[in-house]
Amino acid sequence: MMDQEDGDLTRAALARLDECDDVRFKRVMVSLIGHLHAFVREVDLTTEEWIAAIDFLTATGQCCTAQRQEFILLSDTLGVSMLVVTQDQARQKGAGNGAAAATEATVQGPYYWDGARDFPLGHDIGEGVPGEATFYSGRVTDTEGAPVVGALLDVWSGDGEGVYDMQINGQSEMLARGRFRTDDQGRYWFWSIRPGYYPVPMDGPVGRMLERMGRHPNRPGHIHMKVVADGFVPVTTHLFVGDSPYLDSDAVFGVRESLVVDFEEHAPGEAPDGRVMPSRYWSAHYDFRLAPSRA
Ligand code: BEZ
Ligand code: FE
Repeated sequence: MMDQEDGDLTRAALARLDECDDVRFKRVMVSLIGHLHAFVREVDLTTEEWIAAIDFLTATGQCCTAQRQEFILLSDTLGVSMLVVTQDQARQKGAGNGAAAATEATVQGPYYWDGARDFPLGHDIGEGVPGEATFYSGRVTDTEGAPVVGALLDVWSGDGEGVYDMQINGQSEMLARGRFRTDDQGRYWFWSIRPGYYPVPMDGPVGRMLERMGRHPNRPGHIHMKVVADGFVPVTTHLFVGDSPYLDSDAVFGVRESLVVDFEEHAPGEAPDGRVMPSRYWSAHYDFRLAPSRA
C-alpha cells in the first residue's frame, strides 16, 4: 500500500518505468512525469482546474481536421515549436559542420501544402492574388559562400491581406505557392506579392486561450521558404517584411533578426528582370546559406 506523503506518489510513478528499456523514451517520460507532478504541486491544482484542462485538450483534439492542426497551434502559441526549432539548429551548430553560419530556421506553421508546382525562375506566383507585386531574389550558397546549384526553394505565403489559399472556402487550387531551382550560379528570382500580417486562427480553443491570456493573435507579414539541396541540411524558414506591424510580438515567437528583410519600394517602370511594371512594386533580396549535412 502506498503512502501518499509528498513526493511518494511521484517516486512511485517514476518507478513504473524501471522496466522500460528504451533509453530515450524513458528519459523523456521520467522528465515529463517529474515536471507535471511539480507543476501540479506548484500551482496547487484543483480537481475543477484539472477537468477544465482535460476539456481544453479534448476540444483541441476535436478541432483538428485534415486542414487544421489545433495542437500545432497550441505548441506554436506557447513558444514550444520555436524552442524545438531553435534547439535543433543549435544541435547542428554543435556538430562542427559550419552550421553556425547557416540561415536561421523558424516554424513551419500549419499552411504548408506539399506538392506545389515547379516553375521556371522569374515566374509570378502572385498572379491573381490580392497584394502588391514583389520581386524576390538572392542566392543559395554554402556556409563559405560557394553557390549551391539546383537548390530547391519551396515557397508559400498568404496574400497581401494575410489570407492563405487553404483558408478560402472552396479554393482547391494553390495560390501564392511554387517551387524554384537555383541556376548555375546559385541564384533565384521570382515574383509574388508582399505578404500582409495576419491573425492565427482564433475560432477554436487556442483562440479562447489567447483571449483569456490577454494576447493578440497576429503574426508579422512573412513569406515561407523551405530550402533543400543534396548534401546540405534543409532549412525551413521565413523572410519577414521589414516594416510590418507585430515584428516585436509575433504570436508564435517565430521572428529572428537575421530573417527581417527591407522590402524596397519602386516606382512603376522596368524591374530588374526586364518586366515592365505599370504600378508601384517592391523588391526583397535575401541570400540563403546551407550547412553541409556531413561534417
Ligand atoms: C504561419 O506562419 O503560417 C503560422 C505559423 C504558426 C501558427 C499559425 C500560422
Ligand atoms: Fe505564415
